[in-house]
Amino acid sequence: MNKSGKIFVAGHRGMVGSALVRRLGSEGFANLLVRNRSKLDLTNESAVAEFFAEEKPAVVILAAAKVGGIKPNNDFPVEFLLENLRIQNNVIQSAYQTGVRKLLFLGSSCIYPKFAPQPIPETALLSGPLEPTNEAYAIAKIAGIKLCQAYAREYGANFISAMPTNLYGPHDNFDLETSHALAALLRKAYEAKTRKDRELIVWGSGEPRREFLHVDDLARVRRRHLNPRPCGVDL
Ligand SMILES: NC(=O)c1ccc[n+]([C@@H]2O[C@H](COP(=O)([O-])OP(=O)(O)OC[C@H]3O[C@@H](n4cnc5c(N)ncnc54)[C@H](OP(=O)(O)O)[C@@H]3O)[C@@H](O)[C@H]2O)c1
Repeated sequence: MNKSGKIFVAGHRGMVGSALVRRLGSEGFANLLVRNRSKLDLTNESAVAEFFAEEKPAVVILAAAKVGGIKPNNDFPVEFLLENLRIQNNVIQSAYQTGVRKLLFLGSSCIYPKFAPQPIPETALLSGPLEPTNEAYAIAKIAGIKLCQAYAREYGANFISAMPTNLYGPHDNFDLETSHALAALLRKAYEAKTRKDRELIVWGSGEPRREFLHVDDLARVRRRHLNPRPCGVDL
């Protein structure tokens, strides 16, 4: 896309949003639009509609969400479902109404069934029960994907979704109660070494296998002709 086109990065202070801002900036995209939550609460429908009507971004990357690890997801399903539905419904609807040319909705690999085949094919979506601890979050994310697909099918909107795997990197959350797996493991290992502990205690059975992706690799803007094996998203 044109490097001077206006790109709204929703959630620019988060781990993913800040990596996208860093990367887009370094790629020469000069017209980045961001708003702190204190200025624009994305759960507020009328505020979001006003913001879009005023700013009219050309491209939207939706990296704002209520995000957390197993414990907060399990303890607060109402908040994870409602806040995420509100944020994504408001942003996606306003984007369509104000003529956004392209929208990227970020979801998560937890949308796939708990016992999906490995590696997970896209066709596994909605083919079985979800992992119960983060079901509310996953349902919200599935609704976001389906809303983008519905806008594309019914109105021809260029709204797409990406489902990254477990991410890590700068601006990750290292809180032992609310963080994701890798940040918690890093902190536990660091503190155990600092204390010279003889053992490292982690949650779970130790059996699960996971994939991890550095957030800067996620944020790499695809250069179709320069990089034959891209991993980022083409704007
Ligand atoms: N982290 C992962 O491992 C991972 C893996 C796969 C997919 N993803 C997806 O990537 C996206 C971003 O995740 P992340 O890890 O970057 O999360 P994060 O670090 O918690 O960042 C979330 C961002 O959303 C903003 N936000 C939340 N509620 C808001 C509201 N009501 N109004 C305005 N802004 C709001 C936060 O603002 P504040 O700065 O004010 O809190 C923050 O900037 C999510 O959709 C997530 O599903 C993440």
